Amino acid sequence: MAANKKLLILAGDGIGPEVMRQVERVLDWYAKRRAVSFGVNHGLVGGCSYDKHGTPLTDETMGEAMEADAVLLGAVGGPKWDSLPFEKKPERGLLRLRKDMELFANLRPAIVFGPLADASSLKRELVDGLDIMIVRELTGGVYFGKPRGIETLPDGTRRGINTQVYTTPEIQRVARVAFDLARLRGRKVCSVEKANVMESGVLWREEVQKLHDADYKDVELSHMYADNCAMQLVRQPKQFDVIVTDNLFGDLLSDCAAMLTGSLGMLPSASLGAADARGRRRALYEPVHGSAPDIAGKDLANPLATILSLAMMLRYSFALGADADLLEKAVSNALGAGIRTGDIMTPGATKVSTAGMGDAVLKELDKLA
Ligand code: NAI
Ligand code: MG
Repeated sequence: MAANKKLLILAGDGIGPEVMRQVERVLDWYAKRRAVSFGVNHGLVGGCSYDKHGTPLTDETMGEAMEADAVLLGAVGGPKWDSLPFEKKPERGLLRLRKDMELFANLRPAIVFGPLADASSLKRELVDGLDIMIVRELTGGVYFGKPRGIETLPDGTRRGINTQVYTTPEIQRVARVAFDLARLRGRKVCSVEKANVMESGVLWREEVQKLHDADYKDVELSHMYADNCAMQLVRQPKQFDVIVTDNLFGDLLSDCAAMLTGSLGMLPSASLGAADARGRRRALYEPVHGSAPDIAGKDLANPLATILSLAMMLRYSFALGADADLLEKAVSNALGAGIRTGDIMTPGATKVSTAGMGDAVLKELDKLA
């Protein structure tokens, strides 16, 4: 079905290769059982690339990422490379990918699978079945705005400066991603800013509303101040479907929403860029967690965040929604059968290794197919 599509796999460091091995088994299953296959290339990013090439990302691998229809990444970093200069650090490889691919929309779902609802810090009934999507603007706002810096005034007082800047195209393109996503989900978008105290927030609200009225009248749009959104996320999270917000508020709100789900080992993400001349949208899929050096190489890591990132890839880069549903259902059923890696262990459940969780997902896929 998608055999002419190019997928670049960058497993990275630490637990990256271990969790990616399970993803490759799932890809093999899809090729055999659903005739969904990709032209897969492999490359190095992070510390492993530094060890081999002296840089966390070579120009060649960057070029392959630009040509790929989607990039799937494990994790980068680890204590071995902590003392390297800034430009050589593993994280620089990931930052270059995000920058050169112009990934301006970061998608962070917060999904609670029923069997894991007790792992949340909130009461089971508040989070059971939770499925929300936070779309965070990733390349603009206060993290990049100028002027910025620390200056010393004539009287010796020091002053730190950062500037929140957004233009209408920056707001509209990320809002468009959110509205398009909402059409594939619950058809509800909540746009979040602080228009009560920030002019950039006023512009944000106006532009999102304009885009809605012009192109997305079939999607229900609401606006909310960011402080209220933080409260609502912990009070009644199921009221949301898609939340779209700026870089800074999105950083905070997506971490807040992530913890409603209880475990880092379960959280996938996607970062989407602009469509290129061929109408193809650049995209990078990766788990939210890092390289977990404390458990790397021990077959203990939970591969589900990366497997669920693959499900996002099927859905958002290749319009294979039914295949994505199937994979998410298999994950849910494996959890329902009581299969757990150590990080999500619950009383009475069966503790398995990284590969054991891969086995369980494949077994459930077999049952569903
Ligand atoms: P981390 O996410 O790697 O680990 C935090 C804790 O969660 C650890 O106790 C770890 O064992 C556990 N954990 C993480 N993923 C897990 C999984 N799939 N299954 C079971 N347990 C899991 O974050 P930390 O410790 O702050 O960073 C470690 C390294 O990873 C650092 O070098 C950091 O720079 C890098 N990092 C890389 C990221 C990326 O590649 N996107 C993101 C965050 C950190
Ligand atoms: Mg954060």
